[in-house]
Amino acid sequence: MADKTATLTFSDGTPEVTFPIHQSSIGPDVVDIRTLYGKSGKFTFDPGFMSTASCASTITYIDGDKGELLYRGYPIDDLARNCNYLDVCYLLLYGDLPTPAERQRFDSLILHHTMAHEQIHFFMRGFRRDAHPMAVLTGLVGAMSAFYPDSMNVHDPKVRETSAIRLIAKLPTLVAMAYKYSIGEPYMYPDNTLSYAGNVLRMLFATPCEQFVVNPVLERALDRILILHADHEQNASTSTVRLCASSGTNPIAAIAAGIACLWGPAHGGANEACLNMLTQLQAQGGVEKIGEFISQVKDKTSSIRLMGFGHRVYKNYDPRAKLMRETCHEVLGNLGLQNDPLFKLAMKLEQIALEDDYFISRKLYPNVDYYSGIVQKAIGIPPQLFTAIFALARTIGWIAQLNEMITDPEYKIGRPRQSYVGEKLRHVKPYAGN
Ligand code: SDX
Repeated sequence: MADKTATLTFSDGTPEVTFPIHQSSIGPDVVDIRTLYGKSGKFTFDPGFMSTASCASTITYIDGDKGELLYRGYPIDDLARNCNYLDVCYLLLYGDLPTPAERQRFDSLILHHTMAHEQIHFFMRGFRRDAHPMAVLTGLVGAMSAFYPDSMNVHDPKVRETSAIRLIAKLPTLVAMAYKYSIGEPYMYPDNTLSYAGNVLRMLFATPCEQFVVNPVLERALDRILILHADHEQNASTSTVRLCASSGTNPIAAIAAGIACLWGPAHGGANEACLNMLTQLQAQGGVEKIGEFISQVKDKTSSIRLMGFGHRVYKNYDPRAKLMRETCHEVLGNLGLQNDPLFKLAMKLEQIALEDDYFISRKLYPNVDYYSGIVQKAIGIPPQLFTAIFALARTIGWIAQLNEMITDPEYKIGRPRQSYVGEKLRHVKPYAGN
């Protein structure tokens, strides 16, 4: 097929420039503008990267209009219903689902790297007990990059694989430590006889004083939550990890940068913000107050947003939100909480919002964060820990994307330019006094 091109003409006499158009396997083609500055002396301008593809990737595809999400070509529904989180980690990391032998080796590798270095405990003691778990996690993962001097060379495939195994295996342990420290309970060491999700539940909720039995419904629900949050193409925290790692820095330190970015309420912090929003609305009167709340959201001067709604890419229902709502039903039903007031409020709020032109005209639908807080609260996870669970799940996506970036033959350190709109050249005027 003839190569497609795009030509840019300028009204200021700059000679026109023609660019190649690269075809994507699915989704929008891309105009390769890398020669623009050299040929025209001009930059493109795209704050927030609304129309900018930062890379070519084979990992995750999102169709925002259809509300589709594929990991390595597999629909998220298929993976959530037929696989477990470690299968999805293998898929994102290596490009295919594991054979039984590959799964056995990978699972064993992960389950035998779950302990954190004992000296990590000393870092915990420096935090206040009420430190936000995402502050603690950013610190602990940053600190962890100091414990493996052999993990400095990100260009070495063995270093990348070892760092991947360590991060996937140890993040749950660090998240659980952050939680136990905040409630003054002793840390629970990992139990490698449990599943990945079962281990997370045990390290969070068990104590040395009594036997802990993993509830299989909660184990399955948590495993599904981890699958749904595993990767999401070039979101803010993934782009942070890619840009950070593009300098060749320690891969574990680059993941700490991703955790810091995910914390924001516009991104991974939305699940905690959404549950706080529902709790506050419930306290103010619940369903009767929805109309008033929606009016506040629509009032631009209020700066109130319907947390858990809207998405830069999805202009349809986030497929993860559908699966999360299904998991909500399962967990609340299993726990006898099907009349949970927050869940009923969330469903009524969703129904009213989806019928309101403000949301319809802006294509604002529930995203992954809208129901995930309710499920996590039902499992027993406190709201402040929601985003840490999100970070735990997204670590595999960050690693896979980092690896893809650093092994790209065209890889360069990321270094965007700018439009400078500040003061023109000027000089210091000698002070009158001297
Ligand atoms: C995640 O990128 C990813 O993939 C992220 C993520 C992942 O898996 O990595 O999917 C995870 O971060 C999900 C998003 C979680 N965030 C929230 O739920 C916070 C609430 N939502 C928003 O703040 C907002 O929708 C964003 C940040 C998610 C997207 O914002 P955009 O694309 O920059 O859109 P925008 O802010 O320009 O909004 C467009 C319009 C504006 O109104 P107008 O100026 O046109 O009048 O929609 C309005 C916004 O005011 N709007 C909302 C709204 N979200 C957008 N109005 C009320 N409530 C909202 N939630």
